[in-house]
Amino acid sequence: MSAQVQSMHWRDGRLHLVDQRALPGRLEHVVCSSWQQVREAICSLAVRGAPAIGLAGAYGVVLAAQRLAVPSSAWTEAVQALRTARPTAVDLSWAVQRVARDAEAATNPAEAALRTAMFLHRQDAERCARIAKFGAELIPAGSWVLTHCHTGALATGGEGTALGAIAAAHRAGRVLGVYADETRPLWQGARLTAWECGRRGIPCRLLVDGAAGGLLASGRVAAVLVGADRIAANGDIANKVGTYPVAVLAARSGVPFYVLAPESTIDSGLPSGADLPIEERPGGEVLSPVAAPGTEAYNPAFDVTPAELVTALVTEGGVLRWPYAFGISAGRGATERA
Ligand code: MRU
Repeated sequence: MSAQVQSMHWRDGRLHLVDQRALPGRLEHVVCSSWQQVREAICSLAVRGAPAIGLAGAYGVVLAAQRLAVPSSAWTEAVQALRTARPTAVDLSWAVQRVARDAEAATNPAEAALRTAMFLHRQDAERCARIAKFGAELIPAGSWVLTHCHTGALATGGEGTALGAIAAAHRAGRVLGVYADETRPLWQGARLTAWECGRRGIPCRLLVDGAAGGLLASGRVAAVLVGADRIAANGDIANKVGTYPVAVLAARSGVPFYVLAPESTIDSGLPSGADLPIEERPGGEVLSPVAAPGTEAYNPAFDVTPAELVTALVTEGGVLRWPYAFGISAGRGATERA
């Protein structure tokens, strides 16, 4: 068994995605041979995590280019449907548009789309490796860290962002272990972070989301490391719901709060967190299985952490400290180095 799982692969003209809904019980794949199946996999969270849904969307465009005339109204509809399958992670939108643009400019659209999707996949693995390296250097030796949601290999095309840095720091002997928030309502921490840490040999202690404040106040955590789905031009961060309270509590306890994400996550077209699109998901995810019958739910999938609560932003370009100067358009990835 290889320690690092691969979130997806392309084989025999089809996209094979690890079905993240089945974990930790079963490691199995959803096999997609149409763009509609890819869209469904993204919407139902069979594939999840910002970079991973970007790559899945990219391969979805390949499947569309194999079946549809490029350009045509059916093609435009497919690209739009993939691009908007989930609203918060900007990686999805830019990766789909990037592959579609290259397909439209080519004499063989399907071939060109596949070339670009595979390039983005390789590029994401390289970005993860750089983020892991820069992030690991921030963690003091001999520490335990806290993370929220899941940011490992399953969520990316490489070894992960925040969890990639934790794994690199663990390999270097700096991190002793990770505290993982359960991450209600869909348990990405309990199901995926704990599973991936187990595979990678990283000691992992699971806590209920509400325990993070007391843990941070206790002084047992040297740093918080999380990912991001979209970063506004002023540095405000959209990430899994529950990230914002952790950032507030980390600030209150004087614990550094690091956000690790590729530069493609920066959406310089959005001035601030007030403009970040936050996905609302079905109430059943919150209510199942224990809520009293007839209860209503409020289920935002993400929240916004103000930039001033982020000690540093770690991208493949290096370690950036607020205030940032992102003078670029979404997905271009030019950033100022600290
Ligand atoms: O709803 P999800 O599980 O797709 O949310 C994922 C997150 O919020 C992750 O922290 C983020 O995408 C970074 S993944 C490297």
